[in-house]
Amino acid sequence: MSIIENALKKAGSQGLVVDGHGQDSVIKNIPPRDSGERNSDSVESREAVYGFSAEQQVIVDWVGLAENGFIDNNNAKSQLAEEFRVIKRPLVNNIQGAENNGINRSNLILICSSLPGEGKTFVSINLALSIANERDKKVLLIDADVEKPSVSKQLGINSDRGLIEYLEDDKVIFSDILLKTDLPNLSLITAGKRHKYSTELLSSQRMYLFAEEVSRRYKDRIVIFDSPPLLVATQAQILAELVGQVVLVIAAEVTPQSVVNESVAKLSNCDVVMTLLNKTRKEIDIYGHNYSYGKYGHL
Ligand SMILES: Nc1ncnc2c1ncn2[C@@H]1O[C@H](COP(=O)(O)OP(=O)(O)OP(=O)(O)O)[C@@H](O)[C@H]1O
Ligand SMILES: [Mg+2]
Repeated sequence: MSIIENALKKAGSQGLVVDGHGQDSVIKNIPPRDSGERNSDSVESREAVYGFSAEQQVIVDWVGLAENGFIDNNNAKSQLAEEFRVIKRPLVNNIQGAENNGINRSNLILICSSLPGEGKTFVSINLALSIANERDKKVLLIDADVEKPSVSKQLGINSDRGLIEYLEDDKVIFSDILLKTDLPNLSLITAGKRHKYSTELLSSQRMYLFAEEVSRRYKDRIVIFDSPPLLVATQAQILAELVGQVVLVIAAEVTPQSVVNESVAKLSNCDVVMTLLNKTRKEIDIYGHNYSYGKYGHL
């Protein structure tokens, strides 16, 4: 198994926030909702009007994924599959224990990193596949890297509507952008077109309502957001305040400690932040692979 290392010590005491208000509580730093708007705009009410069965079916390019080094669904015993079994466990445990540990929206997980190329998309897709392969877990993978989307490219899927279209046009409803893949437990929402106000769209009330509704209404669904780099664009920091759990991917022996510290500071309002060391050199020596993972460290 990969080298296990908790690279960081978080300044001050963070820990989990127990707010005691249950599912309906409002996460900190998010302005209170206007209940009227919420009622007219909620996934629930819109689905009641438009129905939820219109999910489009898409086929994942499994061969391409395996060729690009992602988890191969035909090789459940691969080292990578084993590593992601370890990586997903604390995240899933946090969801299952959410009623007791007080994590709001624990089923929403953001995968972020400080800089480009540290492995966010690689981790997002593999984590989604690993969890979706469990019989009783449903996963919704959302490409929220709206500046440089690559999830759908990696999965070999085309869609003309995604998150951006949903956020910019309130006539677009959830089921319009929800893609059902040929892996029964895996659904997908693509990033959509590039938009010059994508940051504003992601920080909009509509995005907040989307996160709130998906978390509350689909408690059995684990939602994984791929995101842009924290220190390059502002979107990841905005998204981090919508989710219950954040995974900070760190390119081991590449990303300087000072850079990691800067990211940690940007995530200081999040309930749960875990670090994931990617591409640890030790694994090259031991296994002859180019990359591997470290274990999470709670900050
Ligand atoms: N552990 C790993 N094993 C094998 N390949 C990896 C690993 N981590 C990342 N890669 C590869 O490294 C490259 C960069 O990874 P990825 O695209 O996931 O980074 P990213 O953080 O999403 O980048 P960006 O910020 O540009 O979106 C990709 O080709 C990816 O397949
Ligand atoms: Mg990426």
